[in-house]
Amino acid sequence: MMFARRCFVFSLAVAAFLSSPAAAAADDTIKVGVVVEMSGPFAPYGHQITNGMRAYMKAHGEKAGGKKIELVVKDTTGPAPDLARRVAQELVMRDHVQFLAGFGLTPNAMAVASVATEARVPMIVMNAATSAITAKSPYVVRVSFTLPQVTAPIAEWAAKNKIKKVYTLVSDYAPGLDAEATFKKVFAANGGEVVGALRVPLKNPEFAPFVQRIKDAKPEAVFIFTPAGETAVAFMKAFSERGLDKAGIKLIATGDVTDDDVIDAMGAAALGVITTHHYSAAHKSPENDAFKQAYAAVTGAGARPNFMAVGGWDGMHLIYEVANKLGGKIEGDKAVAAAKGMTIQSPRGAILIDPATRDVVQDIYVRKVQKVDGKYFNVEFDKVAKVKDPGKS
Ligand code: DHB
Repeated sequence: MMFARRCFVFSLAVAAFLSSPAAAAADDTIKVGVVVEMSGPFAPYGHQITNGMRAYMKAHGEKAGGKKIELVVKDTTGPAPDLARRVAQELVMRDHVQFLAGFGLTPNAMAVASVATEARVPMIVMNAATSAITAKSPYVVRVSFTLPQVTAPIAEWAAKNKIKKVYTLVSDYAPGLDAEATFKKVFAANGGEVVGALRVPLKNPEFAPFVQRIKDAKPEAVFIFTPAGETAVAFMKAFSERGLDKAGIKLIATGDVTDDDVIDAMGAAALGVITTHHYSAAHKSPENDAFKQAYAAVTGAGARPNFMAVGGWDGMHLIYEVANKLGGKIEGDKAVAAAKGMTIQSPRGAILIDPATRDVVQDIYVRKVQKVDGKYFNVEFDKVAKVKDPGKS
């Protein structure tokens, strides 16, 4: 009841705002409301994303479509859907942003989708990777990736490389469930078998008992998905402390687990791990070199951009292209129409916004953790070209 009433009041306010002269008044600024995790255990997500956005702006000038581009950043503090919805409403109502952007975590993106729909504001998803997010609002455009999109290639790779029995372990929330279901389906279709499946809490999981259960089951490999960062480091520690590697159990994962932001903290425990993902800092291309240079200009030398920083960079690129196409006059429906079918030369390779789904189509790389010049990297050695989100086909 309360919720329905709040939504109704919000709808009235949005209607009033949309018809107000202030909303229609021409301005010399395009405001981008950025909803991200800037504090708490997921704070690296917000920092990577906003640094990627700022790097793009620094490298390309702070104007697009003849207008100044301004970021208004709001902190969700972690997975906090109610707070994310509230700050998004403020951004739309009070700050009059023309774009919503950011979104490291799925629960926050899911919660804001209805705000984007009500306010008819394009919502550029720069990380959150549950397949269903784009279906939550016709105003969502995703430049990052989806869990089914990066999971299907590792399931195929495993089956083709003589791995037949796998135990899966995922974080117990929407992206984890997407990864678990995709792995099981694609692995079975290629002749493999999932012999056990575990789900661990999103926040602060204690991995030791889970890892011991897997060890006792003696699978040939473990497939895991946890969100990038601390959780993945904790898993890797438990995996090597419990001696699964020494027991001959291989580790395969989505690239979230060996994320560039934490891979050096994992150290030797991560060596040899095979993952599939859309971006590695070790990707060789002129666009990636330019990106890393621009990122260092914002953060100082030494900080390594990860896939979330690339999401921020590419999302900003898309916003600039849309603003240019529309001559700086941003209307939600026109902006989404302009983004559909757009191709962007990303630091990861070309990406396409599928006009039918507004989701990203891209090459997915197969990588192995190796030491390069004394540091750990995900070194790409194969790729699957132009992968669409299999969650939608
Ligand atoms: C999410 C997905 C990821 O792949 C990740 O590393 C972190 C968060 C998400 O959608 O919540």
